[in-house]
Amino acid sequence: MSWILTNDIYDKKSNKHYEGAYSQGNGYLNIRASFDEDLSEASQNDTFWRLPANVTLEKQRHTLSKWGIYIPGIYGNHPILGEEIINLPYPLGINLFYEGERLDMNTSSFTEFNRQLNLKNGLLQRELNWVTEANNIKVKYTRYCSMATKNMIVQKIELTPQNNGEIIINSFTDSDVTTNGYNHFKEIDIDKECQSVFITTDTDQQIGIHTDLNIVNENVKDNKISIIKNRLNNDTVLQLTVYKKIVIEKRTYFATSIDIDYCGDIKKQLENKIIAYSYEEDLQSHNKIWEEKWNQSDVVVTGNEDVQTAVRFSIYHLLRSANDKDTVAIDAKAYAGEAYFGHYFWDTEVYLLPFFIYTQPEYAKKLIKYRYNTLKGAKSNAEHYGYRGAKYSWESCITGREQCSSWQYADFEVHVTADVIFGLIHYCKNTNDEEFLINEGLEMMIETARYWMERTYKKGDRYHIQGVMGPDEYLAFTNDNTFTNYMVRYTLQATLETVSLAKVKKSDVLSNLNITEDELNKIEDIVNNIVLLVDKDDSFIEQCGNFMEFEDIDIDKIWLDKKRPFGQFISQERNYRSKVLKQADVVALLYLFRKDFDNKMKKNCIDYYEPITTHDSSLSYIFHSLVYSDIDEQEKAYNMLEKSLGIDLTEKGAAEGIHIANCGGIWQALVMGFAGLTNCLESDELKITNKLPDEIDSLSYKIYFKDSWYDIYVDHNESRVTPL
Ligand code: BGC
Repeated sequence: MSWILTNDIYDKKSNKHYEGAYSQGNGYLNIRASFDEDLSEASQNDTFWRLPANVTLEKQRHTLSKWGIYIPGIYGNHPILGEEIINLPYPLGINLFYEGERLDMNTSSFTEFNRQLNLKNGLLQRELNWVTEANNIKVKYTRYCSMATKNMIVQKIELTPQNNGEIIINSFTDSDVTTNGYNHFKEIDIDKECQSVFITTDTDQQIGIHTDLNIVNENVKDNKISIIKNRLNNDTVLQLTVYKKIVIEKRTYFATSIDIDYCGDIKKQLENKIIAYSYEEDLQSHNKIWEEKWNQSDVVVTGNEDVQTAVRFSIYHLLRSANDKDTVAIDAKAYAGEAYFGHYFWDTEVYLLPFFIYTQPEYAKKLIKYRYNTLKGAKSNAEHYGYRGAKYSWESCITGREQCSSWQYADFEVHVTADVIFGLIHYCKNTNDEEFLINEGLEMMIETARYWMERTYKKGDRYHIQGVMGPDEYLAFTNDNTFTNYMVRYTLQATLETVSLAKVKKSDVLSNLNITEDELNKIEDIVNNIVLLVDKDDSFIEQCGNFMEFEDIDIDKIWLDKKRPFGQFISQERNYRSKVLKQADVVALLYLFRKDFDNKMKKNCIDYYEPITTHDSSLSYIFHSLVYSDIDEQEKAYNMLEKSLGIDLTEKGAAEGIHIANCGGIWQALVMGFAGLTNCLESDELKITNKLPDEIDSLSYKIYFKDSWYDIYVDHNESRVTPL
């Protein structure tokens, strides 16, 4: 069961959730699992202004269905939201009209409904027995994004009529779609002869989409191509014979002006991409690629089906949303929806990257390279704010320039700049990739260090970082957020070490970066004198300066319905000055630097902060689970994991996309938490400390650690590390 996700009761209210949860992808494109046919009451072209409110507090639009086809790297310019991912024309359309009656999941009668996603190979299937006035027809849909032919989506539809009759198969590509209520298509050119649609976006990128419909049947009575508004239709009339199954295969091909092999002519490009492999051949190669991915990344859980399903669901989405390009990363919704506009956050380095570093290092490198490729944007951010160096964006997209339109986060959530360097160090250390560290990484380090030299403020002997928001977004304007200051100190220390390494190994690279002795002295001074509100005597870390002065509030009295976020029950003004947290902040620090703090400190802090944390962000529970594991409070560690397992599964939270940071967190909670794997920043040697909770019998997985592969196994009697 744990490989196959199943939904067998159609409820139109949760349809949008399944579209997100069963999303597919192949490293080139991603698609939501919307139905092939039109759905009544679910228009796809609504236009509205999506405001830059915090998406967790915002009201959902398109409540029944939202088509979504995204090619990371294809982006538009939204007047308010900035650079955003574009929802492309929907080419997967197949309407069925039987004796004049259209299949519509919201109004038709059907029995035996079932839809499934196979996590093993990303195959999406739907089956139903459609009961029409005139007939019963068994319909089975299969769809996959080919891992073997990256620019191709394949659909197969099998129809088995229970009577003779006439059916019209209306295959369509609809360009009348919006992204977050906005139209990014500057030009739409529909080519009837070639069954293709060509789009020019408002950023002048080009996309070509071609569909091939293949119906092997001698009873085709008619075929007609038409264009109605922005929809290209291909209608085939077929005579069905009782019990005689017919199979329809539809292939959709994409070509874009950002493909590396782009030849300057999008039509030609599209033609070049069309292949002749059979369905079976392509599917076989596709399955093989998925098998290789799982072979490196699977986590096998025994004794707990919920955990097994959730971790495989998480790994599936991490694998399918990881891109083959290094000019994009993985957005906060894993390209399974438009919330967060296709933007990249600190989620990438802190929540997602460890999974890739330890199981798919070549994808980890792409994510790091994305940050190198957007260094120019980070430099222009720093300049915009009046600083030297580079400031990574709170919300980053294609150029790396700040895309967050809410100033509180854009201006103050500066820890992301240090988190990016933390991710870089983590990757380089595990892969021993010194070449990359010095050739590219050092420039990122020096430029961000230049930013910190100016963003810190020296008062007396001590350095402060004033006016910041830490990971906890319910305290917006604080001074000396310990998480931020600690991260900054760590990355500046690493910068000094990398400079020393470069002096010995590649002095030419260093001299090109023009770092002066004065600058190096200043970095060292910050490292030695930055304020850290870590009280070793009292074993306590204050989240930020004056945290204790914030108002104590009665959280339970305000939070009347805990199924909704706390943030909806309090004004932002009051929230920002009260002792209530959105998410792990000090607790995140305790996990990321767990070797630096003893158990007493960890226990004091988590006992204090957890009761005042609302966990309004999906990034919160999982770090609590990790800290509880670390201090041997297995029961609590499991409870916190349990709250994360269902976010995109049982709680049906995937309507607007996948909470991909939580997915990366679930992987960490098992691998780093329950199996207690020390990461390569904590130790050069691979070590595990068995922390398995009673609810799980055993865990096993493969790990890539310091350039070698290992098999890890833990159960309640033994812990094994086997070099491979
Ligand atoms: C969280 C951030 C996170 C963002 C994107 C917000 O709700 O508070 O920490 O980076 O979502 O996932």
